[in-house]
Amino acid sequence: MHRPVKRIALLGATGSIGRQSLEIISAHPELELVAAASGSQPIDGLAPLTQVGGNLTDLLERAEPDLVLNAVVGFAGLDATLWTLERGIALALANKESLVVAGELAIAAWERGGGLLLPVDSEHSAAFQCLEGRSRESVDTLVLTASGGPFRGKSRDELVDVTPAEALAHPTWNMGPKISVDSATLANKGLELIEAHFLFDLPYDRIEVVVHPSSIVHALIRFRDGAVLAHLGYPDMRVPISFALTYPERAATPIPQLDLAGGLTLEFTAPDLETFPMLALARRAGELGGTNPCVFNAANEVAVAAFLDGRLPFLGIAEVVAETLDAADGAAPRDRDELVEADAEARRLAERGVGVA
Ligand SMILES: NC(=O)c1ccc[n+]([C@@H]2O[C@H](COP(=O)([O-])OP(=O)(O)OC[C@H]3O[C@@H](n4cnc5c(N)ncnc54)[C@H](OP(=O)(O)O)[C@@H]3O)[C@@H](O)[C@H]2O)c1
Repeated sequence: MHRPVKRIALLGATGSIGRQSLEIISAHPELELVAAASGSQPIDGLAPLTQVGGNLTDLLERAEPDLVLNAVVGFAGLDATLWTLERGIALALANKESLVVAGELAIAAWERGGGLLLPVDSEHSAAFQCLEGRSRESVDTLVLTASGGPFRGKSRDELVDVTPAEALAHPTWNMGPKISVDSATLANKGLELIEAHFLFDLPYDRIEVVVHPSSIVHALIRFRDGAVLAHLGYPDMRVPISFALTYPERAATPIPQLDLAGGLTLEFTAPDLETFPMLALARRAGELGGTNPCVFNAANEVAVAAFLDGRLPFLGIAEVVAETLDAADGAAPRDRDELVEADAEARRLAERGVGVA
């Protein structure tokens, strides 16, 4: 069957998601890489249009893509997400931080644009696939699974002296440094909780997080009739990346099929919110709304960078984020510029917190 060529702009092309996306794109002649961006690493010749740093929307204007894969890490992905949603261009979203910080502003841009928003986060891709075509009213709860990260089962005392190298050693996923630390603190699941709230228009009390160490089940939906749909597969980001890039085709990938008879067992437990307070802090920030999710994200970015630099202990990450949330005003942003201001102010507060921690 002849398929029209899809023109792809890949932002964050040198990262963990970016490199896996390049592999998927090169396996499909109907996917054409028209533009690529990185933050600082050179990418000359990777695509007809390339850009290192700078304003990503300039590149997107020139590229005229059919689909933007936003795999930039952190707040830096915000403008590209808003630009793409506003224009009704399909957005494959790995950069969860942009949806978390922009929240209602991003959803309003999405509604005006009317394009596709395809989550790349494995849990949200899974939920999207379980939900597809069903009304929100038919949903009882969305369940996001968390591997629990490298420190699952540890006590707070055991986490006092953990090093960046230990935090980066994720048991099931091989990811960039920021999201790896976020997985170790459970901040990543907190960001995903807020992302899910906006993506699927569900209140926070209908989104549950469970720890599932093997990361085989990515998400579940409990429907009001008592049926539960789950999405299973080996933890490999090429599956949700391929789903988003080739949607609605569900193209073949080189990932092995799930072996059920070989002794697969599925274990689920409640998260330990006392040892890992970032998940509860994210839920609180999400429920408070306004710029609180933006503040949560900014303080987390500052604290994670400080931890990776050896300027903050692991347990200090949650302390800095909690103090920043308490100190920031959290008022709802009227536009993108107010968000940028809230982000900058939260970063100043968080840097001060790192300095005294
Ligand atoms: N990795 C995963 O398995 C995974 C899973 C689910 C969701 N995600 C999400 O996907 C996003 C990317 O994660 P990752 O693990 O791929 O991160 P990563 O390996 O650290 O890569 C980050 C990418 O963003 C680029 N970048 C940073 N600042 C930029 C800027 N100002 N302008 C343009 N590009 C910039 C980097 O370029 P340089 O290399 O030049 O710095 C790099 O290409 C994050 O939001 C993460 O939460 C990742």
